[in-house]
Amino acid sequence: MASDNIINVAVIGVGAFGRNHARVYHELQQQGEPVVLTAVVDADVARADALAREYGVRAFGSVEQMISTRGEIQAASVAVPTAGHLQVARTLMEAGVDVLIEKPLAASIGEADELIQLAGSQGRVAQVGHLERFNPAVRATVPLITQPMFFEVHRLSVFTPRSLDVDVVLDLMIHDLDVVLAFVNSPVTEIRAVGLPILSGKVDIANVRLEFASGCVANFTASRVSTERVRKLRFFQPKQYISVDYGRQDVLVFSVDREGGLPGTPSINPQIKVAKPPITQEEPLHAELKSFLHSVRHRSRPLVALEDGRRALALALDIVATIQQHQGKIRLDQL
Ligand SMILES: NC(=O)c1ccc[n+]([C@@H]2O[C@H](COP(=O)([O-])OP(=O)(O)OC[C@H]3O[C@@H](n4cnc5c(N)ncnc54)[C@H](O)[C@@H]3O)[C@@H](O)[C@H]2O)c1
Repeated sequence: MASDNIINVAVIGVGAFGRNHARVYHELQQQGEPVVLTAVVDADVARADALAREYGVRAFGSVEQMISTRGEIQAASVAVPTAGHLQVARTLMEAGVDVLIEKPLAASIGEADELIQLAGSQGRVAQVGHLERFNPAVRATVPLITQPMFFEVHRLSVFTPRSLDVDVVLDLMIHDLDVVLAFVNSPVTEIRAVGLPILSGKVDIANVRLEFASGCVANFTASRVSTERVRKLRFFQPKQYISVDYGRQDVLVFSVDREGGLPGTPSINPQIKVAKPPITQEEPLHAELKSFLHSVRHRSRPLVALEDGRRALALALDIVATIQQHQGKIRLDQL
């Protein structure tokens, strides 16, 4: 594909989140990016029609219909419920369409492996929608990482009746699992986890402690039944404490600058320096879709590839299993 050729895109599944993909592609197009939102697809045809009218594009009730009618689609976002990711993404990839698949990548590791195999055999660019990797605060933190040893991560939200078919681990915590896995870059050696259903039939609040081969320990709390909204990741590494606020998109770096004193002895005058790396605010979805289109244009490996989605999914499923074991131990079904 020539580097300035227009990329025709579609969004498959325009429910609560997919409609944001349509909006952002449309905004990118208006900002002069060489991309055109060409079609929206939803099994709920009235829903697809309403959004298509808003953006002046074609609406379809199925991905098969879209492919047979609009052969020029080169890339698509897959934002149908997770159980449908494999089927929709397979149809797209087999028709030569590059895909950005929402998180969690798939409903099982077998399905995730099939997606990875398909992307390889079809020669498709395939990205997973782990949005927080594109959060400007997370991007500003990556170059600061030396040897993270201890994380404390909170993702709390107020209750809304969405994504209640999955545990909070696969709905919310998976964002932080993916970020911490990318930051630590070492295998997980131990999982401890507790979680409870509160308002839905699935786990609504969970607390997890991970230990990594590097010796790093990470604590995560995720809740969708909180009274406040918090999205923070804090970690310690030698002589540094770094605090990331995903929502405010800012980073604070506290560094100890030891003056005087011999190595191994307490410093007489430890200086604590506080720095705030400059950050240009940007909607993470905007950055994510721009990055996807860049990979489509240059046939390059996406910043967050399907293998990252598989890694986060595998860990999230292991955590869910650990929570179930804990529930069995405390005989939750009898409480
Ligand atoms: N990255 C994020 O922060 C984030 C946030 C929310 C949701 N998500 C993910 O986005 C996906 C969608 O979630 P949602 O909350 O928007 O769900 P939703 O139920 O609100 O919307 C899904 C839409 O897909 C349509 N659909 C279902 N099967 C289809 C098919 N085979 N073909 C075409 N359309 C189909 C439904 O009619 C519905 O309109 C999920 O995988 C979810 O985990 C990601």
